[in-house]
Parts: sequence; structure tokens; C-alpha cells
Amino acid sequence: MILESQMIIIFGGTGDLTRRKLLPSLYHLLKKKQLTDCTPIVCLGRQKITRESFLKNLTIDKFIEDSDDAVVQDLLGRIEYLSFDVLTGSPPEFYAGIEAIRQKYKCAANSLIYLALPTTVFQKTAELVGVLLDETCWQRVVFEKPFGEDVVSARKLNESIMSVLREDQIFRVDHYLGKELVQNILTLRFANEIFASTWHEQIIDHIQITVSETLGVEKRAGYYDRSGAVRDMVQNHLLQLLSFVAMEPPRAGTADALRDAAAAVIGHLRPVEKKDVVLGQYGSGFVGNSPVVGYTAEDGVSDESVTETYVALRTYVDAPRWQGVPFYLRTGKRLKHRYADIRLVFKHKTSPLGTIPDEPNMIIIRIQPDEGIALTFNVRKPGDSGNTESVLMDFCHHCHFGPNTPEAYESILRNVMLGDHSIFPRWDWIEASWKYIDGLRRIVSPPGNYTAGSEGPVEADTLLAQDGRKWLNDNSSQQIIPLHLG
Ligand code: BG6
Repeated sequence: MILESQMIIIFGGTGDLTRRKLLPSLYHLLKKKQLTDCTPIVCLGRQKITRESFLKNLTIDKFIEDSDDAVVQDLLGRIEYLSFDVLTGSPPEFYAGIEAIRQKYKCAANSLIYLALPTTVFQKTAELVGVLLDETCWQRVVFEKPFGEDVVSARKLNESIMSVLREDQIFRVDHYLGKELVQNILTLRFANEIFASTWHEQIIDHIQITVSETLGVEKRAGYYDRSGAVRDMVQNHLLQLLSFVAMEPPRAGTADALRDAAAAVIGHLRPVEKKDVVLGQYGSGFVGNSPVVGYTAEDGVSDESVTETYVALRTYVDAPRWQGVPFYLRTGKRLKHRYADIRLVFKHKTSPLGTIPDEPNMIIIRIQPDEGIALTFNVRKPGDSGNTESVLMDFCHHCHFGPNTPEAYESILRNVMLGDHSIFPRWDWIEASWKYIDGLRRIVSPPGNYTAGSEGPVEADTLLAQDGRKWLNDNSSQQIIPLHLG
């Protein structure tokens, strides 16, 4: 499907997100011939550089696998660079720059305006672009996460942008919702009776949601040290995963029905108590074979920093469907493996044959890498009367659909271009998630230490051990014999 002509305006054009994610995603849309010739891309940055040196610094090839040179040239040919500082620049200068590009391309006036900027300058930028809005065509403004730093700042920000934009023009990004396997959670649940009929407290014992990273803080200490894992990952990505797993069937297939169902989940979260949370901060160690420094020795982080780089959390959704079912969430940096998955662990019952099956059944949604969905079940061990073994039915996404599944940011951009809000958090969801997170942050103690390259702090194991359970790590499904269904 060819998308409508539009001008794409990216604030934060010289930043990492633009180079690593946004421009490569636009490359893929171009390669699929979904962008018209009348789709210029304007990158704005504070640096006073020429278009030529901006393009040279992009080194875009590094971020696109097996790039097609003709498509890269097409992409670069559409990029314009405007030097502009949102805080100190003169608005008429910005409007004149945009107008000159519009005249050059003689395009429709639709605009996709992407704010790849810190949350602290959203308000000022929204006021600046609000003036561009024109009722004869569409203007959509995309806000990168995080949206605020707590409920008070998020409310203030929301009020200020709502005074210049309408809700249908606002797209608040959580890139996890652009991931293929995250969007698949709803299909898995609601398009399959086999799963729909088991998705509740009578069958499910507990649910584990893990986002494990091997990377450290990289070059983002300025932002990360103020934020920490709770605000950087839990407030948005992990709570969105939880919302998709726990929501009631939406009353219709519309974006608003979906977002009503997601917001209801956050409204039902039981406030966290101190005993439900474990925070950690990585010390030095090895990731793979490489030695890495501890968090406080990272560039830009103070020796005294008590920012958490790991969080494990037990929470409950107080709705009839999930009575008594704990949701265990965890995420951290500098851990042993990079992966994200969701595991629904079934109740473990004695079989009428008199044996306790080897392992409880489990549904595993592998968000990354090796995207797929797996189901474990027990089979009889040949010749071994009464004994069972747990095996895996494994749907491998790329084996079936091929390797060209859109990256999260490609789906994000495409949905904005289509004006489809289904994968964008609505304000009521964001407000409720901040309220929950603020409550959590009020009660936590400073983080304990964990070794880089480990599975996280030992206290996180204790959190589950108290309930007679254990974390199921990335490799636990590989110990089960896989039956590949491709
Ligand atoms: C971002 C966080 O939102 O998500 C980063 O700010 C984190 O700290 C990243 O590394 C993880 O995203 P992904 O897609 O690599 O799992």
C-alpha cells in the first residue's frame, strides 16, 4: 500500500535514534515502495553544519543490513538538514526553512513531525509546531518516550500539548508496541480458542515477563542516571506487555477499544509493597568473554550513584480473571543474555494416572531474539513406565514468514502515516502507569549489587522462592526437546 505524500520532520535529527532506527525504517519503507516521491525528510539539529556534512556523518550503511545502494541513494536524496535550536532559535526562521523545503518539493502539506528529543523540551517544541497545523491536511506529532518523569510532570506536559494539538494528532511512542511478537499477543489470545480458553486464573499459575539486556548504560548516562530501570523500562515497556497479556477482550477492533482495555489493566494493578520489589545496580564483571566496568565507573555516572539498573517486581491485577495470579516482571542491563519473553506457567496438577508430570505446561512468547511462540507439554518417556518428559512445540516466526518482518520503528512510523493509534499508548494509560510507578518509587530502598554478566541480584531469586517458584531463564526452554513446526 502506498502511503500519502507528506513531509517528515525529525527533531533530534543528529541523535542516535534518528541514525539507528528512524532513517533505517524509512529506508525499509522506501524499499517496499510505500513512500511517494513527494516525501521529503527534514532532519533538524542544533549543530551548525551543512547538509553535505550531515549526510556524511550519518554513515547510514552501518545501520542497514545488506543495504541496496539505489534505495540508500534515494533515501539520502530526500534528506534535508536544518540547523535549529528549539530552546533558543527564532520560530520565524524555522517556519521559513520548512516553507522553503515545501516549495522545493511542491508537496502536499501533510506533515509527520517526530520529536526524538528529551521530554523536557517536548512542550516548547509542541508550541513551535502547533503553528504549522492546518485543517486542510493532516499533521501528526510523534512524542518519543519517556512522556514525563513522574505523574506531575507528565500531566503538565500533557496539558500543555493538548492546548496546541488535538488528541488525534498526538502519537506517544512505546516502541515495544511496534514489535511483531508484541502485536501478536492479541492475535494469539483472541483468534485462538485453544489459548483464549486457558487464559485465566483457573488454569494459569503465574506469569513471568522478562526483558534482559547485555548492554550497559552506553553513552546515555546523562539521561539514564536520572531515570533508572524503573522509569526507563517498567513504566512503559514492561507495563505495556503486562497490559496486552492481562487485558479483557476489547469490545471492538478499534484503536480506542483496544486502548480502553489496556488502560483498565493498569487501573486494576494492586499498589506495590516494599516486599514486592528488588532493585539492583551492576558491578564489574564479564559479558561473554569481555570484561566490563561497574555502573558507577561508567562515563558520566557519579561514584555515589544509587540509580538502579535492574528491577524485579511482583504485582497483581485485581480483576476477576487474574485473582491470585502473580505477575513477575524483571528487567536489567548488563545481564547474561539479551532476550525478552513472556511465560505463562500453568497450574501443576497430579495426573489421574498417579504421576506428577515432569514440568508444568507453559506458553512462551519470545519477543526477541528468535521471535516465536512455544508451548511445552509432557509426553510419556518410551519404555519408562509412568515417567514423563517435557517437550516443546515451537513456532518460529522467521522460519515461516521469512526474515523481513518490519522492525518496531518501521511499524511505528507506518502506523503514524496511516493515522492508526492502536499501537500508541493513550494519555489515560500513561497517567495511570505513572501513578503506579510513583507509588513504587516512594517505597523502594537503594539498589543492591549484582555482577555484570549474571542473571541479576540473588534477592530477585528470593522474591520468587518466597512463593515456591523460580525464574525461568532464557535457556530453560532449550533444555526441552524442541519439535520445530516452522
Ligand atoms: C529503550 C530504553 O526504551 O529501550 C533503553 O530507553 C533500552 O534503555 C531499550 O536499552 C531496549 O529496547 P530493545 O528494543 O533493544 O529491547
